[in-house]
Amino acid sequence: MIAGRGRPAAGSDGGDCDLVQKDSLLPTPRELGAVPGREPLDPDAAISIRGLVKRYGDRAAVDGLDLDIRRGEIFALLGPNGAGKTTTVEVLEGYRRRDGGAVRVLGVDPARGGRRWKAQLGIVLQSGAGDSQLSVRELLKARASYYAEPRDPDEVLELVGLTDKAGARGRSLSGGQRRRLDVALGIVGRPRLLFLDEPTTGFDPEARRQFWALIRSLRDLGTTMLLTTHYLDEAEALADRVGVIARGQLAEVAVPTALGGRGTAPAVVSWTEGGVRRTAETATPTAFVRELAARFPGEVPDLAVSRPTLEDVYLKMIGDHS
Ligand SMILES: Nc1ncnc2c1ncn2[C@@H]1O[C@H](COP(=O)(O)OP(=O)(O)O)[C@@H](O)[C@H]1O
Ligand SMILES: [Mg+2]
Repeated sequence: MIAGRGRPAAGSDGGDCDLVQKDSLLPTPRELGAVPGREPLDPDAAISIRGLVKRYGDRAAVDGLDLDIRRGEIFALLGPNGAGKTTTVEVLEGYRRRDGGAVRVLGVDPARGGRRWKAQLGIVLQSGAGDSQLSVRELLKARASYYAEPRDPDEVLELVGLTDKAGARGRSLSGGQRRRLDVALGIVGRPRLLFLDEPTTGFDPEARRQFWALIRSLRDLGTTMLLTTHYLDEAEALADRVGVIARGQLAEVAVPTALGGRGTAPAVVSWTEGGVRRTAETATPTAFVRELAARFPGEVPDLAVSRPTLEDVYLKMIGDHS
Protein backbone atom coordinates (compact mmCIF):
# COMPACT_ATOMS: atom_id res chain seq x y z
CA MET A 1 0.00 0.00 0.00
CA ILE A 2 1.22 3.47 -0.77
CA ALA A 3 1.20 5.94 2.11
CA GLY A 4 -1.78 8.21 2.34
CA ARG A 5 -4.14 6.01 0.29
CA GLY A 6 -6.23 5.15 3.31
CA ARG A 7 -6.62 2.53 5.93
CA PRO A 8 -5.42 -1.01 5.18
CA ALA A 9 -8.28 -3.39 4.40
CA ALA A 10 -9.21 -5.99 6.99
CA GLY A 11 -6.94 -8.96 6.71
CA SER A 12 -4.13 -7.04 5.06
CA ASP A 13 -0.49 -7.19 6.08
CA GLY A 14 0.15 -6.58 9.74
CA GLY A 15 -3.49 -7.17 10.64
CA ASP A 16 -4.30 -4.51 13.17
CA CYS A 17 -1.71 -1.90 12.22
CA ASP A 18 -2.89 1.68 12.39
CA LEU A 19 -2.19 4.16 9.68
CA VAL A 20 0.43 6.58 10.89
CA GLN A 21 1.29 9.98 9.51
CA LYS A 22 4.49 9.66 7.51
CA ASP A 23 7.06 12.08 6.28
CA SER A 24 8.13 9.89 3.38
CA LEU A 25 6.11 8.51 0.50
CA LEU A 26 8.23 5.35 0.54
CA PRO A 27 6.31 2.33 1.82
CA THR A 28 7.06 1.19 5.36
CA PRO A 29 8.34 -2.36 5.98
CA ARG A 30 4.84 -3.31 7.14
CA GLU A 31 3.33 -2.00 3.97
CA LEU A 32 5.80 -4.13 2.05
CA GLY A 33 4.50 -7.17 3.91
CA ALA A 34 6.97 -7.40 6.78
CA VAL A 35 5.64 -9.53 9.63
CA PRO A 36 7.34 -8.97 13.00
CA GLY A 37 9.62 -11.85 14.00
CA ARG A 38 9.58 -13.41 10.54
CA GLU A 39 11.84 -13.38 7.50
CA PRO A 40 10.88 -10.89 4.79
CA LEU A 41 8.66 -12.13 1.99
CA ASP A 42 10.63 -13.69 -0.87
CA PRO A 43 10.14 -11.46 -3.92
CA ASP A 44 11.38 -14.18 -6.30
CA ALA A 45 9.00 -16.89 -5.08
CA ALA A 46 5.79 -17.77 -6.94
CA ILE A 47 4.09 -17.88 -3.55
CA SER A 48 5.46 -16.34 -0.35
CA ILE A 49 3.61 -16.67 2.96
CA ARG A 50 4.56 -15.28 6.38
CA GLY A 51 2.63 -15.84 9.57
CA LEU A 52 -0.65 -16.56 7.80
CA VAL A 53 -3.64 -16.67 10.14
CA LYS A 54 -7.24 -17.44 9.20
CA ARG A 55 -9.92 -17.83 11.85
CA TYR A 56 -13.44 -19.14 11.66
CA GLY A 57 -15.10 -17.72 14.77
CA ASP A 58 -12.51 -17.98 17.52
CA ARG A 59 -10.88 -21.08 16.05
CA ALA A 60 -7.77 -20.64 13.92
CA ALA A 61 -7.94 -22.91 10.85
CA VAL A 62 -4.54 -21.59 9.76
CA ASP A 63 -2.35 -20.56 12.64
CA GLY A 64 0.89 -18.82 11.66
CA LEU A 65 1.96 -20.55 8.48
CA ASP A 66 5.23 -19.73 6.67
CA LEU A 67 6.06 -21.07 3.23
CA ASP A 68 7.80 -20.15 -0.02
CA ILE A 69 7.00 -21.94 -3.25
CA ARG A 70 9.49 -21.43 -6.06
CA ARG A 71 8.60 -20.55 -9.60
CA GLY A 72 8.27 -23.69 -11.73
CA GLU A 73 7.98 -25.95 -8.71
CA ILE A 74 5.36 -28.60 -7.99
CA PHE A 75 4.60 -28.36 -4.30
CA ALA A 76 2.31 -30.85 -2.55
CA LEU A 77 0.53 -29.88 0.64
CA LEU A 78 -0.30 -32.92 2.75
CA GLY A 79 -2.27 -33.14 5.95
CA PRO A 80 -5.27 -34.81 7.56
CA ASN A 81 -8.83 -33.58 7.01
CA GLY A 82 -9.37 -30.25 8.73
CA ALA A 83 -5.65 -29.40 8.86
CA GLY A 84 -6.17 -26.13 6.97
CA LYS A 85 -5.05 -27.02 3.43
CA THR A 86 -8.13 -25.78 1.59
CA THR A 87 -8.32 -22.63 3.72
CA THR A 88 -4.68 -21.84 2.91
CA VAL A 89 -5.19 -22.45 -0.80
CA GLU A 90 -8.35 -20.33 -0.83
CA VAL A 91 -6.52 -17.41 0.80
CA LEU A 92 -3.82 -17.68 -1.87
CA GLU A 93 -6.43 -17.73 -4.63
CA GLY A 94 -8.03 -14.57 -3.27
CA TYR A 95 -11.25 -16.40 -2.31
CA ARG A 96 -10.85 -15.86 1.41
CA ARG A 97 -9.62 -12.91 3.42
CA ARG A 98 -6.90 -13.64 5.89
CA ASP A 99 -6.93 -12.44 9.49
CA GLY A 100 -3.19 -11.94 9.79
CA GLY A 101 0.18 -12.34 8.18
CA ALA A 102 1.51 -11.43 4.76
CA VAL A 103 1.02 -13.22 1.46
CA ARG A 104 2.26 -12.63 -2.07
CA VAL A 105 1.14 -14.69 -5.04
CA LEU A 106 3.02 -13.90 -8.27
CA GLY A 107 4.16 -10.77 -6.47
CA VAL A 108 0.66 -9.57 -5.62
CA ASP A 109 -1.29 -9.54 -2.36
CA PRO A 110 -4.29 -11.79 -3.13
CA ALA A 111 -6.53 -9.55 -1.00
CA ARG A 112 -5.93 -6.88 -3.66
CA GLY A 113 -5.42 -8.97 -6.78
CA GLY A 114 -7.13 -7.56 -9.86
CA ARG A 115 -8.27 -9.15 -13.09
CA ARG A 116 -4.82 -9.26 -14.67
CA TRP A 117 -3.48 -11.10 -11.65
CA LYS A 118 -6.41 -13.54 -11.58
CA ALA A 119 -5.95 -14.28 -15.26
CA GLN A 120 -2.55 -15.80 -14.46
CA LEU A 121 -4.03 -18.32 -12.04
CA GLY A 122 -5.68 -21.65 -12.73
CA ILE A 123 -7.89 -22.93 -9.98
CA VAL A 124 -9.26 -26.40 -9.35
CA LEU A 125 -11.35 -26.13 -6.21
CA GLN A 126 -11.84 -29.06 -3.86
CA SER A 127 -15.60 -28.77 -4.30
CA GLY A 128 -15.47 -28.68 -8.10
CA ALA A 129 -18.00 -27.41 -10.58
CA GLY A 130 -21.73 -27.84 -10.02
CA ASP A 131 -24.21 -29.40 -12.38
CA SER A 132 -24.39 -27.79 -15.74
CA GLN A 133 -26.75 -27.88 -18.71
CA LEU A 134 -23.90 -26.91 -21.03
CA SER A 135 -21.84 -29.48 -22.88
CA VAL A 136 -18.25 -30.11 -21.86
CA ARG A 137 -16.93 -28.26 -24.92
CA GLU A 138 -19.30 -25.32 -24.35
CA LEU A 139 -18.17 -25.02 -20.74
CA LEU A 140 -14.53 -24.95 -21.81
CA LYS A 141 -15.14 -22.44 -24.59
CA ALA A 142 -17.01 -20.17 -22.20
CA ARG A 143 -14.15 -20.33 -19.70
CA ALA A 144 -11.52 -19.83 -22.41
CA SER A 145 -13.24 -16.62 -23.49
CA TYR A 146 -12.23 -14.94 -20.21
CA TYR A 147 -8.55 -15.16 -21.10
CA ALA A 148 -6.33 -13.28 -23.50
CA GLU A 149 -4.35 -16.32 -24.66
CA PRO A 150 -6.33 -19.42 -23.82
CA ARG A 151 -5.42 -22.93 -24.85
CA ASP A 152 -7.52 -24.47 -27.61
CA PRO A 153 -10.49 -26.12 -25.81
CA ASP A 154 -10.28 -29.24 -27.99
CA GLU A 155 -6.58 -29.63 -27.21
CA VAL A 156 -7.36 -29.34 -23.51
CA LEU A 157 -10.07 -32.01 -23.83
CA GLU A 158 -7.48 -34.26 -25.45
CA LEU A 159 -4.99 -33.51 -22.66
CA VAL A 160 -7.42 -34.52 -19.92
CA GLY A 161 -8.82 -37.48 -21.90
CA LEU A 162 -12.36 -36.13 -22.36
CA THR A 163 -12.43 -35.86 -26.15
CA ASP A 164 -15.15 -38.47 -26.47
CA LYS A 165 -17.24 -36.58 -23.89
CA ALA A 166 -17.00 -33.19 -25.63
CA GLY A 167 -20.69 -33.15 -26.48
CA ALA A 168 -21.91 -34.58 -23.17
CA ARG A 169 -23.68 -32.40 -20.61
CA GLY A 170 -21.52 -31.62 -17.57
CA ARG A 171 -24.13 -33.18 -15.30
CA SER A 172 -24.04 -36.52 -17.10
CA LEU A 173 -20.35 -37.15 -16.34
CA SER A 174 -19.11 -39.67 -13.80
CA GLY A 175 -17.29 -38.41 -10.69
CA GLY A 176 -13.84 -38.98 -12.19
CA GLN A 177 -14.82 -37.43 -15.54
CA ARG A 178 -16.22 -34.39 -13.77
CA ARG A 179 -12.94 -33.98 -11.92
CA ARG A 180 -11.09 -34.11 -15.23
CA LEU A 181 -13.42 -31.39 -16.47
CA ASP A 182 -12.52 -29.32 -13.39
CA VAL A 183 -8.84 -29.74 -14.28
CA ALA A 184 -9.56 -28.82 -17.92
CA LEU A 185 -11.35 -25.64 -16.78
CA GLY A 186 -8.37 -24.85 -14.54
CA ILE A 187 -5.77 -25.05 -17.30
CA VAL A 188 -7.61 -23.66 -20.34
CA GLY A 189 -6.50 -20.11 -19.47
CA ARG A 190 -2.81 -21.15 -19.76
CA PRO A 191 -2.11 -20.28 -16.10
CA ARG A 192 1.37 -19.51 -14.81
CA LEU A 193 0.31 -20.83 -11.42
CA LEU A 194 -2.11 -23.70 -10.97
CA PHE A 195 -3.87 -24.59 -7.71
CA LEU A 196 -5.13 -28.16 -7.50
CA ASP A 197 -7.10 -29.00 -4.36
CA GLU A 198 -7.46 -32.81 -4.22
CA PRO A 199 -7.64 -33.02 -8.02
CA THR A 200 -7.68 -36.81 -8.38
CA THR A 201 -10.31 -37.77 -5.82
CA GLY A 202 -12.59 -40.26 -7.57
CA PHE A 203 -10.08 -41.16 -10.32
CA ASP A 204 -9.44 -44.77 -11.12
CA PRO A 205 -5.75 -45.82 -11.17
CA GLU A 206 -5.42 -45.40 -14.93
CA ALA A 207 -6.98 -41.92 -14.88
CA ARG A 208 -4.62 -40.97 -12.06
CA ARG A 209 -1.58 -42.02 -14.13
CA GLN A 210 -2.89 -39.99 -17.08
CA PHE A 211 -3.36 -37.02 -14.78
CA TRP A 212 0.22 -37.36 -13.54
CA ALA A 213 1.47 -37.27 -17.13
CA LEU A 214 -0.59 -34.11 -17.69
CA ILE A 215 0.87 -32.45 -14.61
CA ARG A 216 4.41 -33.32 -15.75
CA SER A 217 3.76 -31.86 -19.18
CA LEU A 218 2.47 -28.65 -17.56
CA ARG A 219 5.60 -28.53 -15.44
CA ASP A 220 7.72 -28.86 -18.58
CA LEU A 221 5.89 -25.79 -19.89
CA GLY A 222 6.99 -23.90 -16.77
CA THR A 223 3.72 -23.93 -14.81
CA THR A 224 4.08 -23.64 -11.04
CA MET A 225 1.68 -25.93 -9.17
CA LEU A 226 0.37 -26.13 -5.64
CA LEU A 227 -1.36 -29.43 -5.10
CA THR A 228 -3.14 -30.90 -2.12
CA THR A 229 -3.67 -34.62 -2.01
CA HIS A 230 -4.44 -37.53 0.27
CA TYR A 231 -2.54 -39.88 -2.00
CA LEU A 232 1.02 -40.20 -0.79
CA ASP A 233 2.09 -41.99 -3.97
CA GLU A 234 0.78 -39.02 -5.93
CA ALA A 235 2.83 -36.59 -3.86
CA GLU A 236 5.88 -38.79 -4.26
CA ALA A 237 5.42 -39.16 -8.01
CA LEU A 238 4.79 -35.48 -8.75
CA ALA A 239 6.12 -33.14 -6.12
CA ASP A 240 9.50 -31.46 -6.04
CA ARG A 241 8.81 -30.74 -2.37
CA VAL A 242 6.08 -31.67 0.07
CA GLY A 243 4.82 -29.79 3.10
CA VAL A 244 2.93 -31.47 5.92
CA ILE A 245 0.34 -29.26 7.55
CA ALA A 246 -1.15 -30.17 10.91
CA ARG A 247 -3.52 -28.01 12.93
CA GLY A 248 -2.95 -24.97 10.76
CA GLN A 249 0.83 -25.03 10.90
CA LEU A 250 3.54 -26.51 8.73
CA ALA A 251 5.13 -29.43 10.52
CA GLU A 252 7.85 -29.95 7.90
CA VAL A 253 8.82 -29.11 4.35
CA ALA A 254 11.18 -31.42 2.47
CA VAL A 255 11.80 -33.26 -0.76
CA PRO A 256 9.68 -36.44 -0.72
CA THR A 257 12.70 -38.72 -0.28
CA ALA A 258 13.87 -36.84 2.83
CA LEU A 259 10.63 -36.11 4.69
CA GLY A 260 10.62 -37.21 8.32
CA GLY A 261 14.28 -38.28 8.13
CA ARG A 262 13.39 -40.87 5.50
CA GLY A 263 16.65 -40.49 3.61
CA THR A 264 18.75 -41.42 6.64
CA ALA A 265 16.35 -43.82 8.35
CA PRO A 266 17.62 -47.36 8.95
CA ALA A 267 16.83 -49.89 6.26
CA VAL A 268 14.91 -53.05 7.01
CA VAL A 269 16.39 -56.20 5.51
CA SER A 270 14.21 -59.28 5.41
CA TRP A 271 14.81 -62.81 4.17
CA THR A 272 13.78 -66.41 4.83
CA GLU A 273 16.13 -68.73 6.68
CA GLY A 274 15.40 -72.25 7.92
CA GLY A 275 11.78 -71.80 6.87
CA VAL A 276 11.41 -68.72 9.10
CA ARG A 277 10.88 -65.11 7.94
CA ARG A 278 13.58 -62.91 9.48
CA THR A 279 14.06 -59.14 9.56
CA ALA A 280 16.84 -56.85 10.73
CA GLU A 281 17.21 -53.06 10.93
CA THR A 282 20.51 -51.69 9.75
CA ALA A 283 22.14 -48.37 8.91
CA THR A 284 24.52 -50.17 6.52
CA PRO A 285 22.30 -52.41 4.38
CA THR A 286 24.98 -53.05 1.74
CA ALA A 287 27.44 -54.47 4.28
CA PHE A 288 24.63 -56.40 5.95
CA VAL A 289 23.49 -58.00 2.72
CA ARG A 290 27.08 -58.86 1.78
CA GLU A 291 27.49 -60.79 5.03
CA LEU A 292 24.11 -62.38 4.61
CA ALA A 293 24.95 -63.46 1.06
CA ALA A 294 28.11 -65.16 2.28
CA ARG A 295 25.98 -67.47 4.44
CA PHE A 296 24.00 -68.77 1.48
CA PRO A 297 25.36 -70.75 -1.43
CA GLY A 298 23.13 -69.01 -4.01
CA GLU A 299 20.36 -66.45 -3.78
CA VAL A 300 19.29 -65.28 -0.32
CA PRO A 301 15.71 -66.61 -0.12
CA ASP A 302 13.03 -63.88 -0.38
CA LEU A 303 15.56 -61.08 0.14
CA ALA A 304 14.08 -57.59 0.41
CA VAL A 305 15.58 -54.27 1.52
CA SER A 306 13.20 -51.43 2.32
CA ARG A 307 13.19 -47.95 3.83
CA PRO A 308 10.23 -46.17 5.40
CA THR A 309 7.72 -45.11 2.74
CA LEU A 310 6.41 -41.57 2.47
CA GLU A 311 3.20 -42.93 3.98
CA ASP A 312 5.10 -44.40 6.96
CA VAL A 313 6.79 -41.11 7.84
CA TYR A 314 3.68 -39.07 7.09
CA LEU A 315 1.50 -41.14 9.41
CA LYS A 316 4.13 -40.90 12.13
CA MET A 317 4.33 -37.11 11.76
CA ILE A 318 0.56 -36.75 11.86
CA GLY A 319 0.43 -38.97 14.94
CA ASP A 320 3.10 -36.87 16.66
CA HIS A 321 1.21 -33.64 15.94
CA SER A 322 -2.28 -34.73 16.98
N1 LIG B 1 -16.39 -21.91 5.87
C1 LIG B 1 -15.99 -22.40 7.05
N2 LIG B 1 -16.59 -22.03 8.20
C2 LIG B 1 -16.21 -22.49 9.40
N3 LIG B 1 -15.19 -23.37 9.56
C3 LIG B 1 -14.55 -23.80 8.46
C4 LIG B 1 -14.92 -23.33 7.15
N4 LIG B 1 -14.10 -23.92 6.25
C5 LIG B 1 -13.26 -24.71 6.95
N5 LIG B 1 -13.53 -24.65 8.28
C6 LIG B 1 -12.80 -25.34 9.36
O1 LIG B 1 -11.43 -24.99 9.27
C7 LIG B 1 -10.59 -26.09 9.50
C8 LIG B 1 -9.70 -26.32 8.30
O2 LIG B 1 -10.49 -26.73 7.21
P1 LIG B 1 -9.91 -26.93 5.73
O3 LIG B 1 -9.08 -25.78 5.39
O4 LIG B 1 -11.05 -27.26 4.85
O5 LIG B 1 -8.98 -28.21 5.96
P2 LIG B 1 -8.44 -29.30 4.92
O6 LIG B 1 -8.60 -28.77 3.55
O7 LIG B 1 -7.02 -29.50 5.33
O8 LIG B 1 -9.26 -30.53 5.16
C9 LIG B 1 -11.52 -27.26 9.81
O9 LIG B 1 -11.65 -27.37 11.20
C10 LIG B 1 -12.82 -26.85 9.16
O10 LIG B 1 -13.91 -27.43 9.84
MG1 LIG C 1 -9.54 -29.54 1.91
